[in-house]
Amino acid sequence: MVKYDVLEKALEEAKLKLEDIDLVSFSNSPGLAPCLKVGMEFGKEISKKLKCKLIPVNHCLAHLSIGELVTGAKDPVFLYASGANTQIIAYEGGRYRVFGETLDMGTGNFIDNFARYLGLGFPGGPKISDLSKKGKYIELPYVVKGMDISVSGILTNLKQKYDKGVKKEDLCYSLQETVFAMLMEVSERAMAHCDKKELLYGGGVCCNDRLQEMGEIMCKERKGKCFIPERSLLVDNGLMIAWQGYLERESNKKIDFDPRLRTDDIDVTWK
Ligand code: FE2
Repeated sequence: MVKYDVLEKALEEAKLKLEDIDLVSFSNSPGLAPCLKVGMEFGKEISKKLKCKLIPVNHCLAHLSIGELVTGAKDPVFLYASGANTQIIAYEGGRYRVFGETLDMGTGNFIDNFARYLGLGFPGGPKISDLSKKGKYIELPYVVKGMDISVSGILTNLKQKYDKGVKKEDLCYSLQETVFAMLMEVSERAMAHCDKKELLYGGGVCCNDRLQEMGEIMCKERKGKCFIPERSLLVDNGLMIAWQGYLERESNKKIDFDPRLRTDDIDVTWK
């Protein structure tokens, strides 16, 4: 079974035996119900076998917590840009609050969708990034609504321009310049509103060189700092779920999953 293969590989890499484990955590929100259920059932199985505690954790906050751990960011605005999720999150008044988010697609799904349209395959992010280095700027719609962004209209516009013969390289360059500038605008506004000096990156889209460069420039201009975890911890990883479980090890949360539970619904017990 694949799930045991993954567990065995993780134990081998960590140089641990199964019996060394004294806490098990799993991602219980948000996500697709069948996937969350598979993770929960496997977590139940392992924790029962080891007679140890099982902790359900929120996937988005796990990205944030591992970023804080490895970068040393203390009180950041968190730019979480992945396939399904795009949110600007900050800790205010005892909760992680979503200050802005995408109104339609996650930025990663948007990029992958356009990459497929260009015939670049999956994952599209690295290929779009490579092509962008040979492109020049052409105007695209820029869609920031208050603290939120929207990308589905930009996707349609990019596809229409490609059908009319606009060069792939120019479209890829302009896609990055436009959508990443939108992310910077809402991140910067959240930093100003919350009076925070730190910006922390999380999610696979944040692996992009140009997005990293933009964050560093914006933070420097605000006399702040942009914290960027290494690539393996920006993308989805088991370590972030384990660390979030460890942070919440004293909690007694109900063992269940909720595909729709939002970042700002979580009771923060670990700060
Ligand atoms: Fe994720």
